[in-house]
Amino acid sequence: MTDLLSKFDPLIRERENLLATGVKDPFSLVMEEVLSPTVAVCNGKETILLGTYNYMGMTFDDDVRAAGLKALAEFGSGTTGSRVLNGTYSLHRDCEDALREFYAMDHAMVFSTGYQANLGIISTLAGKGDYVILDIDSHASIYDGCAMGNAEIVAFRHNDVEALEKRLKRLPAEAGKLVVLEGVYSMLGDVAPLKEMVRVCKENGAMVLVDEAHSMGFIGENGRGVCEAQGVIDDVDFIIGTFSKSVGTVGGFCVSNHPKFEILRLVCRPYVFTASLPPSVMATASTSIRKLMHSGNKRAHLWENSKKLHQGLRDLGFTLGTSEAQSAIIAVIMPDLEKGAMMWQALLAEGLYVNLARPPATPANMTLLRCSLCAEHTSEQVDQILGMFEAAGKAVGAI
Ligand SMILES: Cc1ncc(COP(=O)(O)O)c(C=O)c1O
Repeated sequence: MTDLLSKFDPLIRERENLLATGVKDPFSLVMEEVLSPTVAVCNGKETILLGTYNYMGMTFDDDVRAAGLKALAEFGSGTTGSRVLNGTYSLHRDCEDALREFYAMDHAMVFSTGYQANLGIISTLAGKGDYVILDIDSHASIYDGCAMGNAEIVAFRHNDVEALEKRLKRLPAEAGKLVVLEGVYSMLGDVAPLKEMVRVCKENGAMVLVDEAHSMGFIGENGRGVCEAQGVIDDVDFIIGTFSKSVGTVGGFCVSNHPKFEILRLVCRPYVFTASLPPSVMATASTSIRKLMHSGNKRAHLWENSKKLHQGLRDLGFTLGTSEAQSAIIAVIMPDLEKGAMMWQALLAEGLYVNLARPPATPANMTLLRCSLCAEHTSEQVDQILGMFEAAGKAVGAI
C-alpha cells in the first residue's frame, strides 16, 4: 500500500526541525478566554490581539450580541438545510437586504463562508470556453474557485495594469472573460489600482469581480471598499465579501447589479449543496452591517491606528510590506521562517499576538509577521504594541 500521506513528509520534517529549535507551534495557539476585540488570554497571559482581521471590532458590540442571542432564542440553533430547501429564514432575507442597502446594489446572495462565495461565484460564472484572468497573488479561495470550474485560467503579475492589459488583448475577442481582483491583498496589505484595472477590463470586454474581504467596513466613505474609494463601484460587475472580518461573525456574500443575478441561486453548487448559516449568525451579521453604514468615526480612528503603527515600526527599523499604510494590514517582513517564528514567539511572550505567514500563502516566498489593526485598539495600545516590537526585535536580533 502506498501511504497517501507520505507526500507531506518534507513539510512534517520542516515542522519538526522548527519545533526542535525550541519554538512553539505558531499555527496552533489556543485563546483560553477572549475579553474584548483587542485582548484575549493566551497561555494564561492577557495578550493584545493584532492578528484577527477584526477591523471594526464588531464582535463585542452590544447590539450585535443582543441580536444574536434573540435570534438563537426565537429561531433555534441552526437551519439544518440548504438555502434552496428549508435553509432560507426571514433572517437570511433580512441579511441580504442589509447588504443591498450597504452597497446600494440590486442583488445580494449570502454564502456560508467567503471561501464558498469565491468558490461558487467564480466556478459558476466562468465555464468551458471562458477565461478567468486573475492577479497571481490572489487568495486561495479564488484559485480554488478557478480549479473547481472549467474555464481557462490566466494569471498576471501582481497589481500590474500593463500585464493585465497584455493578457486581455491576447484572448479571443468573443470569449467570455472574468477578471478577478482584490481590493486589499491580505498578505502585504497593499491596495489594487482598481481605477486603471477596471478601465482596462471594460475596454477589453471583460466582466470584473472584486473581492473586498479586507476593505469592507473600513475603506471608502461608506465602508464599501476600494471600489468605492477609487470611484469604480458602478463599473464593477460583482463584489465578493466576507462576514469573518469587519462584520465580526462568519459567512460570505456576493452583491451585484446584474439583472440576471438571481438565477445563480439555482446553479451555484457551493450555495445549493450546503447548509445555510444559523439564525444567530444572520442576525449578528445584519445588525453589524447596518451599524457599519454609520461608522465614519471608527473608520477614521482605524486609519489613525494603522498610520501610527506603520510609522512606528518603520522608525524602529523593521522592513514593511508597503511604503505607507494602505489598509489596516501592516506586514513585517522577516528574513526566514526560523527568525520569523522566533520573533512571533518573543512577541507572544511580551503579550502580543500577530499572524506568522509563510510560503506558499505568501508572495515571493516571504515569511511575514502580519499585523491587522482594529478600530477598538486605543492609541495607548498601539504605543504598547510598538514597545513590544522593540523589545522582541532586539531580543531576537531582528532590529
Ligand atoms: C481575500 C479573501 N477572500 C476570501 C476569504 C475567505 O473568507 P472566509 O473567512 O469568510 O471564508 C479570505 C479569508 O481570509 C480572504 O482573505
